[in-house]
Amino acid sequence: MMNCHPAVGAAAKAFLNRQHQLLIDGQWVEASSEARTELIDPATGGVIATAAQGTAADVDRAVEAARRAFEGPWRKTTPTQRTQMMLRFASLIEANAEELAELECINSGKPLMFCRNGDVVGIVEMLRYMSGWTTKMGGETPNVSLPGEWHAYTLLEPVGVVGQIVPWNFPLNMTMWKIAPAIAAGCTIVLKPSEQTPLTALRLGELALEAGIPPGVLNIVTGFGNPVGASIAAHPGIDKVAFTGSTEVGRRIAQAATGNLKKVSLELGGKSPVIVFPDANLQAAAAGVCSSIFFHAGQVCAAGSRLYVHERVFDEVLDAVARRAREIRVGHGMDESTEMGPVVSQRQLDRVLGYIRSGQEQGASLLAGGERIGEQGFFVQPTVLTGVKPGMAVHDEEIFGPVLCAMSFNDDDLDRISATANASPYGLAASVWTRDLSIAHKMARRLQAGIVNVNALSSPDATLPYGGYKQSGWGRERGFDAIKLYTEVKAVAVNLN
Ligand code: NAI
Ligand code: MG
Repeated sequence: MMNCHPAVGAAAKAFLNRQHQLLIDGQWVEASSEARTELIDPATGGVIATAAQGTAADVDRAVEAARRAFEGPWRKTTPTQRTQMMLRFASLIEANAEELAELECINSGKPLMFCRNGDVVGIVEMLRYMSGWTTKMGGETPNVSLPGEWHAYTLLEPVGVVGQIVPWNFPLNMTMWKIAPAIAAGCTIVLKPSEQTPLTALRLGELALEAGIPPGVLNIVTGFGNPVGASIAAHPGIDKVAFTGSTEVGRRIAQAATGNLKKVSLELGGKSPVIVFPDANLQAAAAGVCSSIFFHAGQVCAAGSRLYVHERVFDEVLDAVARRAREIRVGHGMDESTEMGPVVSQRQLDRVLGYIRSGQEQGASLLAGGERIGEQGFFVQPTVLTGVKPGMAVHDEEIFGPVLCAMSFNDDDLDRISATANASPYGLAASVWTRDLSIAHKMARRLQAGIVNVNALSSPDATLPYGGYKQSGWGRERGFDAIKLYTEVKAVAVNLN
């Protein structure tokens, strides 16, 4: 049928060739519309599969199934039973790791080695980590001062039916960051993958069933933001919505959620600063800067997209960054030598190239890259812009492409340096490069970001809370904070007098 890269294995090929449906109440069912969405390999522009286009009516069906499961036997599962299901799910993912990695690679464009060693390994760790919380989460027994004798305690209870809407940049990871804590907490789920990259979520849905996670606990409705995502956000039968994606859509989700005041968590965009002090290990810093902005072609919410380097070492760091940018091997993710793949779509390509042009028009200079590569697929050269200033769109807005905006500073005042780094509506991540302990920790306190990495470009660990200050979002995923997103606290007070 469809054309796909010759290195794609038999299992992934067979999956691509299926007629993908929706997962509702443990059954694979047709959407109520007959329309299908073509799924593209962004490295070729070729169609690799199609997916069902869900509707608002399909969301209704999925919510009903999730509600039945929540009120039914799922409620009565013990924490240990949930742990065991999750651990079986993790083992099944490992057993099917190569297929999942290949599907992720050809649908999202991310190089296979990252899909294999980063995404698939990461979701297995996330599942195993979250599976441990089922038996460890619990309430407290506060010492109340009410008159007489009281026994008071708190309970952590599952919030109920949750809607989860995920984007296309990390389809496996974003799905698992959402479903693992929700399952651990005892919620049931209506998940909407991105219309561009639903394949691996569908495969996960199948493995979840095989692992014994009961029908109706994880329902998957594929389709567009409007209607599927919008009906999830507004649905009166959904108790909580979790979203990862653009700040613009995040705002719309928050508004739609006001109807029934469902709980909302949002993981949105960023324009994360990377600050290199003159005493840093400059080679390590330059390598970190490059990985942070060129990994997955910059389509990472925490990408280090604003670089600030002390002027004493600016040329040295920028030379190393530009050299590396020109050396990065860009190509099809299935080629084992590829270090950077394409951006996800024609639309994203146009958007990224548009930002580069606007930066040049507004006075920035190209130190590396700046062009599309080839005519097939959606490849952009790793790009470094200098002479960038606040007020330019490339400085102020999230580009979500392999485009680094480099600036220098000549200050030693940490308050002023951090004020410059903080001058953004976003506050997702920040990275500081220095060997001075005092500078490192002072900066960590001053930066308005949910994640601060020191001498590191990222910190992908299931235990570390992940989320943003300011317009980068509401709430934290990963760690125990993720469990909190899926639970309600109940205070019980018993008058013993
Ligand atoms: P998007 O925010 O439109 O898409 C993310 C998810 O939201 C998808 O599943 C989409 O179907 C869904 N969605 C879209 N409209 C919706 C609505 N009205 N109600 C409910 N759900 C809706 O992101 P898009 O348009 O693909 O990318 C645009 C920009 O957004 C990117 O260039 C990037 O700057 C940012 N973005 C940030 C991400 C992050 O990880 N923080 C991920 C994806 C995009
Ligand atoms: Mg959009």
